[in-house]
Amino acid sequence: MQPTIPIDHGLSDKVLGKPELLPVASGMPLLTDIQFEALEAGVARGESLLVSAPTSTGKTLIGWWTVASAIEAGYTAVYLVSHRALAKQKFEEAKRLFLGDFLAYDRSAIVCATGDSVEDAAGRKTNAPLSSVILVATYEKFLGCLSVGGPPRDLTNICFVCDEVQLVGDKHRGQNAELLLTLMRRAGWRQFVGLSAVLSPGDAQALASWLGIGLIRNPNREKALTIECRTPLATLSVSAGPGFEGLQQQGPPSRSRDVMGVIGELLQQQRNPVIVFCMKVDDTFDLARTWAQSRPAIQIDAPAGVDVEQPLLDALRRRTAYHNAELTEDERLFVEDRLASGQVDVVFATSTLAAGVNFPLGSAAFASWKRWDFDRQMHVPIGRDEFQNMAGRVGRMGQAIAKGHVVLTADGVQESRQAQALMDLTTQAPLGLGITPEHFGTLTLQIFAGRLCTSREDAFDLIGSTLTASRERERNLAGIDHWRDKLFSQIDRLVDIGCLIELHGQITVTTFGVAVAHSGLKPETAIFFIEGLKRSSAQLTQLIDRAGNGTSEDDFVFVLSHAAIRSPEFGIVGGKATRILNWRIGRNGPVPNPYATRLNPILFDQPWVADAGAANGALQLTEWAAGTARGQIEKIVAGVRLGTVQGVARDVSWVLTGVSEIISSVTSPTLADESKPIALRGNGEDVQDVRRLARAIRRQSIRLGVGVPSDVLWMSELRLPGLQSRLRRDDIMSLRRGGLSRPMDLMDGSDQADERRRIALGLQERGGIANLIRNAARTWRQDDRNHSKTMHLRRADRLMLRDQIAALYEKRGTDLEQAFSISLGGLGIPCQPLDVTGRQGFPDFLVSIEDFIPIVVEVKSKVSDQETVPLNAATEVLAASELAGLRNNPCLTLCSPGVDPSVPTFIEAAKRLCVIDVSDFCEAILRLHEGTLTRGGFYNWLTTPGIALAEALPSPATR
Ligand SMILES: Nc1ncnc2c1ncn2[C@@H]1O[C@H](COP(=O)(O)OP(=O)(O)OP(=O)(O)O)[C@@H](O)[C@H]1O
Ligand SMILES: [Mg+2]
Repeated sequence: MQPTIPIDHGLSDKVLGKPELLPVASGMPLLTDIQFEALEAGVARGESLLVSAPTSTGKTLIGWWTVASAIEAGYTAVYLVSHRALAKQKFEEAKRLFLGDFLAYDRSAIVCATGDSVEDAAGRKTNAPLSSVILVATYEKFLGCLSVGGPPRDLTNICFVCDEVQLVGDKHRGQNAELLLTLMRRAGWRQFVGLSAVLSPGDAQALASWLGIGLIRNPNREKALTIECRTPLATLSVSAGPGFEGLQQQGPPSRSRDVMGVIGELLQQQRNPVIVFCMKVDDTFDLARTWAQSRPAIQIDAPAGVDVEQPLLDALRRRTAYHNAELTEDERLFVEDRLASGQVDVVFATSTLAAGVNFPLGSAAFASWKRWDFDRQMHVPIGRDEFQNMAGRVGRMGQAIAKGHVVLTADGVQESRQAQALMDLTTQAPLGLGITPEHFGTLTLQIFAGRLCTSREDAFDLIGSTLTASRERERNLAGIDHWRDKLFSQIDRLVDIGCLIELHGQITVTTFGVAVAHSGLKPETAIFFIEGLKRSSAQLTQLIDRAGNGTSEDDFVFVLSHAAIRSPEFGIVGGKATRILNWRIGRNGPVPNPYATRLNPILFDQPWVADAGAANGALQLTEWAAGTARGQIEKIVAGVRLGTVQGVARDVSWVLTGVSEIISSVTSPTLADESKPIALRGNGEDVQDVRRLARAIRRQSIRLGVGVPSDVLWMSELRLPGLQSRLRRDDIMSLRRGGLSRPMDLMDGSDQADERRRIALGLQERGGIANLIRNAARTWRQDDRNHSKTMHLRRADRLMLRDQIAALYEKRGTDLEQAFSISLGGLGIPCQPLDVTGRQGFPDFLVSIEDFIPIVVEVKSKVSDQETVPLNAATEVLAASELAGLRNNPCLTLCSPGVDPSVPTFIEAAKRLCVIDVSDFCEAILRLHEGTLTRGGFYNWLTTPGIALAEALPSPATR
């Protein structure tokens, strides 16, 4: 530790005055060695650095200094992390550190982007993550954000923090990270700070010089850590700590060598809580049960409204827990909360509690440290980097206990050797190779979509500039020549599939290619969906046409879920699988499946019984999306927990979001036929039908994220004050069962309505929440609208358009019609009034954008901000257009303040109708003025059937 900061530290007074950003002890700054060195090397003065230091040396803070300096200097900051859970943790931390002091509580300024969602600090979805001031993102998602069309991005205004940067060498997930760094290296950055605990000196040097940045490395731990291996003959231990490294000792054999005995000992030594690392999910359950059996029980209940499975509750009553990827979100938070508040003695965990996270743990034991290797058909030790990252969860600063202690056991000579290799804290595993030529598929598309290359040779050069390539060249004389053929065959494949076009050696990316690259899906998945949707288009549109009928909506989500699980994302077509279906789902064959039986003819892949995983999984997802209670869902396939179903729902939702984006972009009427995928050329009814499905698919993907039917999906956006910030799924379903689905039902303040809500929610001890819900429903969307209004007026000022935008937000009735027409007039878009005197029932306007078929428009408004435009008013334009003889034109209803949220299904069912809220319309108008939305994109957005949301606007190509 260093009780001072370097003279030339570069930190601002604001940072110096904030203890969370500058730890102090007895009035003096107290930095870890690596933190001191990082400041000395200029991390707060814009220097780019690779920081390599053991676990728990406070690397995160080095990242936050980078962020603070960046935003104070007017740049933006991007904090990249390896996985979703870490993104959430860092996002919360960023909000705590920066929102007030640095960003004047502008909640739109911090955004978190993961495969699940892109949301700002107010929980609002956004499609312009790159316009935020601080973006926390996973490597994979950020790569997707970059590959939106347009000229190569200039990243020189961004300061990057790349946490867990050793990900570039990860066998499974390294490719995206490495490609991303390659692109960033080309496009340039303001500052680059990489952080890692597990790089060897050689690899750290190689990575730093490839990036062209400085390296600081300090192998010193800030807090002591001892790893002890118990063999039948001896106890071998290795310690490291401040000032010493790799101290080895050998002692007599230990008393206990079985994991239960080890845990008992650790507890006796008051090294609690103990984390027990397990290699299999099942072990976490089984061992927790065995351990808990012998422990005394105390009474605890899950907090009201939190759904925790009985076995977990039973374990927690005995101060025991398990933590793995099969827990639900609620359960995981509950366990972490109890752990943090000292109410758990032992937690059995898989690596979900490993890289980069901070918990107050006392010691660790390894139940096992080998995994089954399918290729080699044997158990093999985990990698040293993984082991070190796991062991590094203890012996962390901030943990009460003075020293971290880790125990593992080994039998026999060979195992002891393997264990000792893992325990060696002075050396690190060599970095793997992120890129393998077998998997050039996505890589190749991303390169061209990012407009970084225009020819085969260019692409080869670019791939030749990756870290892996430079290391390959060092390793063998032939270098990467053998990559050329593999790359070229991928280019051929992408040309065949319609993502790229090659003309006289010049390669360009198609609209389809850009959309696919942005979604992160394999092109094969897009084709699989396009063909499947087209084949079943008539039946599928019928399903959405029976709007308001819950059964048909569930049928629709079943077909889509089945397709997603059958799609190449879950298989090896077009490169290795990007998503894996939990093995429990299909292991015992197909379960009785009324949906599959009934819908078999329109499934994209048949017969359904051929794939138990897809059929069972789709059935579970359908029940989840229908709001079915947990008990029922878990009964469908024995052993499959709700947490697993939620995990699959997340993956499927990701696939469907991508599919929906791709479809809306490649079916645009503004696109030349020749540039569409072959299946979507021509103007046949099936092609029109596929287009109509785009927004319906998007909504199903949102539904899968929440797990409730469409008509009450809006309730999941209600924000409640206090701890429980969102309405829970069970509450939403209870209200729905009580016949309370519309905003009006929740807003009504009469005694009768109050009573109905209380009865529906079954409230005794949770009294008060009924009123909170009423208040939340009243301000529902108003807060959002006020926020957008403020932001939009700010942008409008810069464009000298304040009056226009203010009028759109504030005017109602015929004044609003006028404001609408003026706003389009300002863009040179003709807006011809149709409801002139004497033409009763005619629509308001006919809007002509370029030479596309003109749009019939009705403007509908409600005087009170609390009211919404009801369904019948929102659809009136259809009849009006017929009256005016425009029955084949697309129709649009502009709603102020907004449309009733419980009707999206009905709107999608009306074939040529698009409905839009004023605030979303303003976003589009501003983007047109700012030049980040094309007229074609605008037209496409306004004519895709359904509700047009700002977040579904084509992403801006430039900031
Ligand atoms: N200067 C400091 N003094 C005291 N505690 C600190 C200091 N800097 C950081 N910490 C605390 O140390 C703990 C570990 O920090 P951090 O998570 O940044 O470690 P890390 O180096 O990123 O480790 P890993 O490689 O495991 O991710 C945190 O609880 C953090 O609050
Ligand atoms: Mg870290």
